[in-house]
Amino acid sequence: MTDRPTRVQRLTEAALPTRVGLFRAIVYGDLTNGSEPVALVHGDVASGPPPLVRLHSECFTGDVLRSLRCDCGEQLDQAMAAIASEGRGVLVYLRQEGRGIGLANKIRAYALQDGGLDTVDANAALGLPIDAREYGAAAAVLVDLGVRSVRLMTNNPDKPAALQENGITISDLVPITALANPVNLPYLEAKARRLGHRIETSGSARPLVTVHYAQTLDGRLATRTGDSQWISGEESLRLAHGLRASHEAVAVGIGTVLADDPRLTVRLVPGESPVRVVVDSTLRVPLTARLLSDGNAPTIVATTNRADPRRRREVEATGAEVVVLEGDPAGRGDREQLRDTLGEPGNATLLRGGGARLINGKRRGGPPRRVGGAIATLLDRHGIEAVGELDIRRLRDALTFRRARFTQLGADVIFDGELEPQAESVA
Ligand SMILES: NC(=O)c1ccc[n+]([C@@H]2O[C@H](COP(=O)([O-])OP(=O)(O)OC[C@H]3O[C@@H](n4cnc5c(N)ncnc54)[C@H](OP(=O)(O)O)[C@@H]3O)[C@@H](O)[C@H]2O)c1
Repeated sequence: MTDRPTRVQRLTEAALPTRVGLFRAIVYGDLTNGSEPVALVHGDVASGPPPLVRLHSECFTGDVLRSLRCDCGEQLDQAMAAIASEGRGVLVYLRQEGRGIGLANKIRAYALQDGGLDTVDANAALGLPIDAREYGAAAAVLVDLGVRSVRLMTNNPDKPAALQENGITISDLVPITALANPVNLPYLEAKARRLGHRIETSGSARPLVTVHYAQTLDGRLATRTGDSQWISGEESLRLAHGLRASHEAVAVGIGTVLADDPRLTVRLVPGESPVRVVVDSTLRVPLTARLLSDGNAPTIVATTNRADPRRRREVEATGAEVVVLEGDPAGRGDREQLRDTLGEPGNATLLRGGGARLINGKRRGGPPRRVGGAIATLLDRHGIEAVGELDIRRLRDALTFRRARFTQLGADVIFDGELEPQAESVA
C-alpha cells in the first residue's frame, strides 16, 4: 500500500472565521505528491466521542464559482454548517480537482457531457480514470489531529473503505443531504446509477413525485386567457427539460393539452424523454395533439369509464395507450395513479407539470414530494392561480418545506424544496 499515515506534515495554521462559525485552518504538505490538503477544524476533536468528519475534494467550478453542474458547493456548505452546528468536527479539503483528473480535463469532460455522454462515459472517452481520488492523505491528516474514529459524512462508499484501510475507524456513516438542483439532477443520478453513490434528497427515500411549474411573482400560471408561453426564461426551460429527463413519467392535466399542445419531450438537454401521461376523464384530448401524433415518446391517457368507448378506440389508434381508471383518475393519489398508469410497482418517479388542477390535486399520504419552479414577471389578478384553495384555516397547518432554497437562474428565481411529511397528508 502506498498510503501511509505519516505522509503529511503541518505547514502552517491560523484561525478562519466563516459565515457558519470559527474554524482553524491547518495547511499540510503531502510528502508523496506535493499537494496541500487543508484541515478545517471546529472545536476540540482530539478528545471525546468520534467527531463529524467530511472529506471534500476540491472543485473550483462548484466550490468557488457555484456552478450548478455539480453538487460540490452545496455539499461543502452543508458539511461546514453541520460541523459548526454540532460544535466540533473536521472538514479535510483535498486538492484533487475533478475526481482527481484536474481542472482542464474536467472541463473537457463537461464538453463531452454537453454532447450527451454521462459523467462516467465522458471520462472513459478521454482515456481518463472514472475516479482517481485517494484518501490516504486525509487519513494522515486525521491521525495528525488525534482523530482515530470518525462519524463520516458521505454518500460515497469508497471513502469509508479508504479511511479504514488507512487505520481510521468509521463509527458511523452520516448521509450528506445537499439538495440536488434540477440542473445537476441528471449528473447526480448518473453518479448513483454508475458509481453506487446514494442520492440523499430527504434523508429517506428519493422523492417519487416532483411538482414543477413556472409562476409569476404574484402566483399565476398563465394569463386570464390561458397564455403561459413563456412565463420563465430559456435557462428555466432547459431546467424543465432536465427534470423531464430525470423522471420516468411526466403528467399534465387535459386543460394543459388543450391550452398549450405541449410535446413534453426532452429537447433542450441530452437525455431520454419520459413516458407522457395525460389525465383526461372524458377523453377530450384532440387526436391531433402533438403528444399523440409525434411518436417521439410513449403516451398514456388516463381516463375513466365516463369516456365514450368509440373515442377510446380513436385515441388508441394514434398509438397512445388508454388506461381506464375507476372514479377520478387524479383523485386517488399520485402513487396509485402512477402504478395504475405505468404498471410500476410504485417506485417510478413522476413529474407533475401542471396545469392548475393537477398541481393542486389532492393526494393521500405517499412519498416525499418535491416542489420546484421558476418565478418571474408579474400578471394581473385575473391570471390563472398556480396554487388555489388549500383550505388551510390555521397558520400551524400551513404547508412547509424542508431544505427549501432559492437559486437565481438567468432572469428567473428557482424555488426548490420538499414538502414536510406532515404537510403531505393534506397536500
Ligand atoms: N406555467 C406553467 O408552468 C404551466 C404548466 C402547465 C399548464 N399551465 C397553464 O395552466 C392552464 C391549464 O390549467 P388547468 O387547471 O385548466 O388544466 P390542467 O390541470 O392541465 O387540467 C385540468 C383537467 O385535468 C384533469 N385533472 C387534473 N388533475 C386533476 C385532479 N387532481 N382532480 C381532478 N381532475 C384533474 C381534469 O380533467 P377532466 O375534466 O377530464 O376531469 C381537469 O379538468 C393553461 O393555461 C396552461 O397554459 C401553465
